[in-house]
Amino acid sequence: MELLQQIDIGPEYLEEGEDLVLERIAEVKKELSEKLLILGHHYQQESVFQFADVTGDSLKLAKKAAESKDKQYIVFCGVHFMAESADILTSDKQIVVLPDLRAGCPMADMASADDVEWAWQELEEVTGGSRIIPITYVNSSAKIKAFVGPKGGSVCTSSNAERVLSWAFSQGDKVFFFPDEHLGRNSAYALGIPENEVVVWKRGKRLGNNDPEQLKKAKVILWDGYCTVHMQFKASHVTMWREKEPDIRIIVHPECRHEVVKLADHYGSTESIIQTVNNSPGASKWAIGTEINLVNRLNKQNPDKEIHSLSPFQCLCSTMYRIKPSYLLWVLENLKHGRIVNQITVDPETASFAKIALDRMLKI
Ligand code: 13P
Ligand code: SF4
Repeated sequence: MELLQQIDIGPEYLEEGEDLVLERIAEVKKELSEKLLILGHHYQQESVFQFADVTGDSLKLAKKAAESKDKQYIVFCGVHFMAESADILTSDKQIVVLPDLRAGCPMADMASADDVEWAWQELEEVTGGSRIIPITYVNSSAKIKAFVGPKGGSVCTSSNAERVLSWAFSQGDKVFFFPDEHLGRNSAYALGIPENEVVVWKRGKRLGNNDPEQLKKAKVILWDGYCTVHMQFKASHVTMWREKEPDIRIIVHPECRHEVVKLADHYGSTESIIQTVNNSPGASKWAIGTEINLVNRLNKQNPDKEIHSLSPFQCLCSTMYRIKPSYLLWVLENLKHGRIVNQITVDPETASFAKIALDRMLKI
């Protein structure tokens, strides 16, 4: 992703007390309500999350954006790739806004379109004759999605990665999966693909640091990207909780390393973590391996249960955390005065190719 510069929103917003900022957001939201949809990802901080009209995981929010044809403004309280997908899935008349342009996703930035294009060419050269299906996790730039669409591939999210992977094997012989190595490995494992047929493509290395024979034999080739937040959960944390609380249940996000997912009782997208914990019997104990804002919210919403973060450290997504109430207020008050700030637009050619990959996922 090119580095996006967030302009200084000034003391009127940055130095205002939080209570007043929240009051002003509520007011302006009411005034814009007919034209406005605020989408909020589960990792948003509470002070912002409370204003979302729809909350969800990446898949739910992408679907909601696609369905909301009557809303002129979509304010995305999430990260850049999510706002890009919303822009691709909405009409040209609808405007998608990201309250702080610095809210990116480090994992998405680990796969640049040039690097992926280059890797693809090398892979095709050595595996000549095999049909390779590219699958990109939704945590990727629009350019990567646009690369995948015309090549017969699809986008996936953490809630449908296994389904998309198994669809891909009905279309071809091999899958090139990017950017998240861990989601790819966890999904391949769930489909029973043998470990020795899954290889990692190391960015910037010739043949991704593999020998040609390995690549010919591989069913799944995984880009070596990762989420800096979910990498903080370790197998030793699972062991520690099991020793301390033998009746605890462990649930983690599939961006966690495979050894953590393997030891957990459940894994799934943010939406599925919420449903599993909320639907569990009273007095259950949970250790949750995902972003801290979501874990804290689940803890508050389930006072009858004992809920902990799987890690003893605060695993915060610092880019999601960029979306602060003052920035939300700034974009909304500008919209009220007919000024569009922080619009996220994908150029028409990239958008049309990326839409092929997104639509394919929504159909699968
Ligand atoms: P979900 O689609 O599960 O909400 O995950 C998005 C994400 O970025 C997790 O790190
Ligand atoms: Fe990206 Fe990880 Fe943050 Fe999700 S939690 S937005 S994958 S850095």
